Amino acid sequence: MAVNYKVEWPMNLGAPADSLEAKQPPVDDGLDVPDPARYYTREFMDLEWQRLWPRVWLLAGVTSDVAEEGDYFVFEIGSEEFIISRQPDGTVKAFYNVCPHRGNRVCMNERGSVARFTCTFHGWQFGCDGKLQRITDEETFNPRLIAHRPGLTEVRCAVHAGLIFINMDGRAPPLHEYLGLPAGYIENYEIDKMHVVHHVRSAWRANWKTGVDAFYETYHLPWVHPQTQGVMEDFSQYDLYPNGASRMIVPICVKSHRVPDQERVDPYLQFMLKEAGIDAAAFSGTAREVRAAVQQAKRARARRVGLTHYDRFTDGQLTDSWATGLFPNVQMGMHPEGVFIMRFLPHPSDPEQFYYDTMILYRHVEDPDYTVPAWMGLPEGIDVTGATRPDIVHVPLGQKPNLGEVLDQDSELLPIQQRGIRSRGFRGPLWGEQEQRVRHFHRELDRYIEQDK
Ligand code: FES
Ligand SMILES: [Fe+2]
Repeated sequence: MAVNYKVEWPMNLGAPADSLEAKQPPVDDGLDVPDPARYYTREFMDLEWQRLWPRVWLLAGVTSDVAEEGDYFVFEIGSEEFIISRQPDGTVKAFYNVCPHRGNRVCMNERGSVARFTCTFHGWQFGCDGKLQRITDEETFNPRLIAHRPGLTEVRCAVHAGLIFINMDGRAPPLHEYLGLPAGYIENYEIDKMHVVHHVRSAWRANWKTGVDAFYETYHLPWVHPQTQGVMEDFSQYDLYPNGASRMIVPICVKSHRVPDQERVDPYLQFMLKEAGIDAAAFSGTAREVRAAVQQAKRARARRVGLTHYDRFTDGQLTDSWATGLFPNVQMGMHPEGVFIMRFLPHPSDPEQFYYDTMILYRHVEDPDYTVPAWMGLPEGIDVTGATRPDIVHVPLGQKPNLGEVLDQDSELLPIQQRGIRSRGFRGPLWGEQEQRVRHFHRELDRYIEQDK
């Protein structure tokens, strides 16, 4: 399929084919316009619960949240809950958060560290390995009923590059194969050495896919986030990978090609220079030279503080956002300093609500010149050392999530778009080539819904 839209970017057309930043070959995802019912009907939501969610690998969390034996956290999606637990042998196991006695939730906290799990209803106890340890008043049970020593129901769990995934039906292909990304792509960031420094879960009045779609393109930047034009290019490089995965490289530390003056170094770019440790007042280059200057400064800084893994990053990776989509409901904004993970979690019963779950992971470096990049939108006074794992900030429906100016703009837009999508007058989305990741995602979703996968 010829891609015929006019672009000044991508900038990586010259990259060697085996480089992780190389533009991927085009994928023909057709031009079908899906029925918009997928965004708002109970029927489609039920189909997703039968044919999608149980069958895929779902990002449950990160390994630094279960660093020590006995550490656990609870992963919620829809009306399901899972306990993710670090084992004595260093592996990670996952269980449904359901007591085999009468179905009560076993873990009531979002995370913690325990020697065993104790159900709050009648006190049955389970080891961190899920095995039954103790039944209260066991002598009052007919031995035949409990002869199978009922423990927590285990669910398939796998770890990749600091990320923990689960698969409910146990039949998904091996995780590394399923993810569809080249070797090294995620590993290079060493996410296992990062910690969650901020975690917000906000409820939005829109379908979870309305959310994914909005974050899979930068086509809307000049309209919804015009303030980004001073520091970000909106013609991203879009790349499609197998199994619904995709990536966009969003050039940062440049002005959008839509800005007439490409020479003057405005306050936004001055800020980026300063953040990289460059004296902005003494910088003699033009706006076009800022991106390369920031890249060089960051590389030099990494050498100084002993971050040898920067050698694996291309120059572009030091400035740009590699927004990476894992099918079906994850996008990760990947940067050497940290990773911004967003998950689009379906509401248990309302197809027109989802939880926008955002985790900011940061690798703390003990150096006065190494700072948390402003793009992370961290509120003041947050501990970035990784010493304390912050609680999840829950933001109810209708309240501003306070995720920074850009994401708050999205949160205002999406409920309005959702109302338009369910109008009788809307015939279905018309995706341009800047929205090829959105089409790629929906084509993969169709394969699950149509049971081709
Ligand atoms: S439901 Fe858990 S002990 Fe009874
Ligand atoms: Fe946006």
